[in-house]
Amino acid sequence: MATELTWLGHGTWLITTGNHRILLDPFLDESPTAPIKADQVEVDTILVSHGHFDHVADLVSIARRTGATVVSCFEICEWVAKQGIEKTEPMNLGGGIDLPFGRVTMTVAHHSSGLPDGTYGGNAGGFHLAVDDGTIYFACDTALFSDMQQIGAGGLDLAVVPIGDRFTMGPADAVQAIKLLKPRLAAPAHYNTWPPIQQDAAAWAERIRAETDSEPVVVEPGGKIGL
Ligand code: NI
Ligand code: MN
Repeated sequence: MATELTWLGHGTWLITTGNHRILLDPFLDESPTAPIKADQVEVDTILVSHGHFDHVADLVSIARRTGATVVSCFEICEWVAKQGIEKTEPMNLGGGIDLPFGRVTMTVAHHSSGLPDGTYGGNAGGFHLAVDDGTIYFACDTALFSDMQQIGAGGLDLAVVPIGDRFTMGPADAVQAIKLLKPRLAAPAHYNTWPPIQQDAAAWAERIRAETDSEPVVVEPGGKIGL
C-alpha cells in the first residue's frame, strides 16, 4: 500500500504506510483546527518531536488506549514511562532506529522543549522517515538552519516545514528551507491554528512554484498527501 499522509491540523500528521499507522505530535482535542478527536485515532506508533503542549497534549491518552509505541528523545520517553506507557523507543539527535515500517532518524531542530508540567524535555528534534516507497522529512518546530542542505542531500520525496512564524520559521525562511532541502514535494504545517500564526499558504505555495523545483502541496486539515 502506498504511503499517505493526512494533516490533522497544526503539527499533527497521520502517516499510513503498508499496514502501519504512525502519528506525529498528537494535538487534537484542544486544537481549534483538528478534524478528529484523540479517541478516534488508531495507531501503532507515535512520533514526538518535542515537549510543548501543542505536540504532546494527547500523547499519553492515545498511547495508553492504543498501546502504540512512543518514539521520541530519551527525556520524553522517560516522561511517558512515568505515566505508565510501557512501549517506548528512546533516541536522540542524529540517531536512527529501524522500526517495522522503516528507518526513523531524529534530526536537529532549533527550538525549545519543556514539557507542560515543567519537566525537562531534552532537545527538540525533527524526523526523517525512510519507508518502502520514499523518504519524508518533518522539520517540526524549528528555525531555519543551513544543515537542512545535508538532510536533503540523500534525496527527499516530501519535506514538511513550519510556516507559522513567531514560534517557528515563517513563510520566507520556509522558502529558503525548501531551497536547501530540495524535496520533490513541499508541504507547510504549524500555521492557521490561532491568529498569531495565521499565514497565506497559497502565497507560500506560489513562491515555492516560482523559486524552486519542488512541487508545493497545500491541504486543509483532514486533507491527504500521497507520496
Ligand atoms: Ni514548540
Ligand atoms: Mn509548536
